[in-house]
Amino acid sequence: MIKFVRVGKRIGDNAILDNVSLEIEGQEFVSLIGPSGAGKSTLLHLIIGADRVSSGLLYVDNYDLSNMSEKDLALLRRKIGMVFQDYKLLAAKTVYENVAFALEVCEYDENFIKARTNEVLKLVNMYNQRNSFPHQLSGGEKQKVALARALAGNPPLLIADEPTGNLDPQATEELIELFQKINKMGTTVILATHNEKIVNTVKRRVIELREGRIIRDKLASGYKD
Ligand SMILES: Nc1ncnc2c1ncn2[C@@H]1O[C@H](COP(=O)(O)OP(=O)(O)O)[C@@H](O)[C@H]1O
Ligand SMILES: [Mg+2]
Repeated sequence: MIKFVRVGKRIGDNAILDNVSLEIEGQEFVSLIGPSGAGKSTLLHLIIGADRVSSGLLYVDNYDLSNMSEKDLALLRRKIGMVFQDYKLLAAKTVYENVAFALEVCEYDENFIKARTNEVLKLVNMYNQRNSFPHQLSGGEKQKVALARALAGNPPLLIADEPTGNLDPQATEELIELFQKINKMGTTVILATHNEKIVNTVKRRVIELREGRIIRDKLASGYKD
C-alpha cells in the first residue's frame, strides 16, 4: 500500500529525512516513534501528499507520488483519514455537523451522509453527544469526533500524528483501543507518537526514526496479530 524507496527530504541545507526505505502492506498497524524533531510528521506529510520528496520514490496505493499533479494528490487525500494532535474541529459546528461536513464536501447524497455520520459516531461512542459543540467536550471526546470524521469516507488508510499528545492516560487508552478496533475492521493504521507506552499496548510493527533516519523497524516484543 505504501512504499518509500531511498526517500530524502531536504529543507534548505537540512536533511529532514535521509535515505528512508520502507514498505507498509494493507491492514498493518504501524507505530512510528522517535523523539520530537526526528521527522515523523514530515514522513506522514509525504504520505498524504502535503509535501513532496526531494529524492527517491514514494508510492501510495500504487500511485507514484514523486511525480503526481496537485489535482490527483487532492483526490488521493480523500482516500486517507487523518487525525492530528489538535483535533482541528470546526468550533461553530456540532459534533454531528463536523463529521457530516467531511462527507458533504465529497458530494455524497443526503441520506447516505446522515446514515454514515450516525454510524461512525456510534463506532467511536460519541453518538449521544452528537448535538454538542466542541467547546463542550473533553480532549478525549474531541479526538473521538476527529476520528469519526477521519473514518466517515471509509478510507483504507488512517494516519494519526500524535493523536494522544493532549490526552490523559485514560483517554489515551480508549483512543488506542478504537484504533485497534478500526484496524481489525480492515483499515491500515499509521500512528506517530513519542509515547513508548502506546507501542507496548499495541504490540505491532514499530518503526523508529532518529534524525531523519530509520534506526529500527521490527515487530514489537510480545507481537500479537
Ligand atoms: N517547514 C520546515 N522548515 C524547516 N525545518 C523544518 C520544517 N518542518 C520541519 N522541520 C524540521 O524537520 C525536523 C523534523 O521535524 P518533524 O517531522 O516535525 O519531526 P517530528 O514530527 O518527529 O517531531 C525538525 O528538525 C524540524 O525542525
Ligand atoms: Mg511531529
